[in-house]
Amino acid sequence: MQKAIVIGASSGIGRELAKLLSQEGYEVGLTGRRTELLLTLQKELSSKSYSYNASKAYMSNFLEGLRYTFLKEGSNIFVTDVKPGYVDTGMPKGDVFWMASTKKAASQIMDAIRAKKKRVYITKRWRIIAWLLMTMPDWFLICFFGLGKRTNSKSRRK
Ligand SMILES: NC(=O)c1ccc[n+]([C@@H]2O[C@H](COP(=O)([O-])OP(=O)(O)OC[C@H]3O[C@@H](n4cnc5c(N)ncnc54)[C@H](OP(=O)(O)O)[C@@H]3O)[C@@H](O)[C@H]2O)c1
Repeated sequence: MQKAIVIGASSGIGRELAKLLSQEGYEVGLTGRRTELLLTLQKELSSKSYSYNASKAYMSNFLEGLRYTFLKEGSNIFVTDVKPGYVDTGMPKGDVFWMASTKKAASQIMDAIRAKKKRVYITKRWRIIAWLLMTMPDWFLICFFGLGKRTNSKSRRK
């Protein structure tokens, strides 16, 4: 049986992804701080699921370490980097565009995992925004989209 651990399974994208994984026959580990929500989900999913609490920061560092280890060892374990745009979980505030449902997000994440993609944008059209942020000069993004690049442009030019 294939196994998966969903970090942040108590709500939002992670909760929906945990359901999909369980439906597809995975043994799913559920993490999050709100134990009562995890236990409710655990009951909803197959009896093979289990839950525990862990720090997100710890898990992120742990997974990053694993990614390099897998690469170095030529392992057959793949790490897919999921980059969500706006997903309707209550997290995005104000007027947002291209909002995806948690079901659509989870489904596209599953497709990317199956295809062993290194990176996936949710939804796919967010690739355009990522491409714009990567390639367009700061003045263009600020003028037309009101966006600023995350990196400090002054320090990049030095
Ligand atoms: N929704 C969007 O539009 C959007 C856009 C871009 C990126 N993202 C990213 O996608 C991820 C999921 O977002 P979401 O919208 O599904 O958010 P969400 O509904 O708030 O879910 C976040 C999940 O992470 C868990 N979590 C948060 N802090 C944690 C911690 N310190 N230790 C362990 N678990 C922790 C939460 O569980 P507990 O609270 O129970 O711990 C919850 O299960 C986040 O990393 C978010 O930044 C979301």
